Amino acid sequence: MNDILPDEAQLWLWFEDSVREWLEAYGYRNIRMPLVEPTALFKRAIGEVTDIVEKEMYSFEDGLNGDQLTLRPEGTASCVRAVLQHNLLYNAPQRLYYSGQMFRHERPQKGRYRQFHQIGVEALGFAGPDIDAEQILMCARLWKKLGLRDVALQINTLGDSAARQRHREKLIAYFESHMEALDAEATRRLHTNPLRILDSKNPAMQTIIAGAPGLMAELDEEARVHFEGVQAILRQHGVEYEINPRLVRGLDYYNRTVFEWVTTRLGAQGTICAGGRYDGLVEQIGGKAAPACGFAMGIERLLALVQEDGVQPPRTPLDVYLVHQGELADRMASSVAEQLRDAGLRVAMHCGGGSFKSQMKKADGSGAACAVIIGDDEAAQQAVMLKPLRGGGEQQRVALQDMQYKICELIK
Ligand code: HAM
Repeated sequence: MNDILPDEAQLWLWFEDSVREWLEAYGYRNIRMPLVEPTALFKRAIGEVTDIVEKEMYSFEDGLNGDQLTLRPEGTASCVRAVLQHNLLYNAPQRLYYSGQMFRHERPQKGRYRQFHQIGVEALGFAGPDIDAEQILMCARLWKKLGLRDVALQINTLGDSAARQRHREKLIAYFESHMEALDAEATRRLHTNPLRILDSKNPAMQTIIAGAPGLMAELDEEARVHFEGVQAILRQHGVEYEINPRLVRGLDYYNRTVFEWVTTRLGAQGTICAGGRYDGLVEQIGGKAAPACGFAMGIERLLALVQEDGVQPPRTPLDVYLVHQGELADRMASSVAEQLRDAGLRVAMHCGGGSFKSQMKKADGSGAACAVIIGDDEAAQQAVMLKPLRGGGEQQRVALQDMQYKICELIK
């Protein structure tokens, strides 16, 4: 779990602003859910036999009433819960986004944290391939906007439930005939969730996984047409993609389209954004069946990539550092600072006293465009000294009534 210190936070603020504009350009509206939900919600939505639910959730009992609670490991389940609880879905489809902390007790390594941040995007009530494709196009636009290079798209389809059932039976039969190659976890999951075996990172099992029967052969016509539809729109917009039949995602709620954006430049944790369709989840959580599709991106991973690419966020520097000394001057300084802020300027007033010299050192180090200097002489004459701090220029005495205008001249 990381602290984000001010220099880095600047990058986060810039990113959050860029992302908000981008989401609004596609008609998405913000929703904010609690960090904690009943444990049962995540078990039902993500699936009992998944890494997240079996090993990674921070779950605890509420000491006051005995409720079983979990720090959210992802946002989709909470978002669907909120939409149902507040009956948002049945008047109109919803395009929603959220952003914030998620918690997974994973083995910490570069790009994988126990508290991390996601921007999550969910479109509820949309059935066609147009929205799946639009979400992928959205991502492509964001990478361009952020100046990211080397991000590749992988897509797959997981079909619908009948095809998944047929595929599941074939997978079980296949892995049963290769029991000697399965590790303990795969053996345990064989009859509960064989699809998860395909997700295994165990190097010793990769050959056996590569030979497992695929789902494509089982696809029903509707799911096939849907997948074709997504691809046609991607092709229309020149978005390159690779079909990866092994892409199954680590959460159980997906059906049909799934996708991941990956980079080779972050080591093992190269997935910066991932999602897909989850047509069964709304009903599974207790609502009337409704189709849905969404994705989430890991902000830490994205920003690591942004930094690798040398993208520099514009800094929003101070306009004025206010230096003051003397009884009269100290009193005048806070009024001057407030007056300048009324005019929309960013002002740091020196606090804590000290000589002019030491205050000017602070002013130089503050990054402000100029220093406004007030001594008792200036205060007595209702004037200030104005000193440019960047790009040279002489210090000058300025009457109080001209100060604002002169500063604006200086910083424009
Ligand atoms: P996910 O694949 O579990 O999907 O996570 C989405 C993204 O969050 C990952 O691609 C990665 O960038 C980031 N991420 C996940 N775990 C960590 C971690 N421990 N440290 C840093 N970053 C991490 C979901 O969470 C789904 N809810 C996405 C979705 C939304 N599907 C439909 N709607």
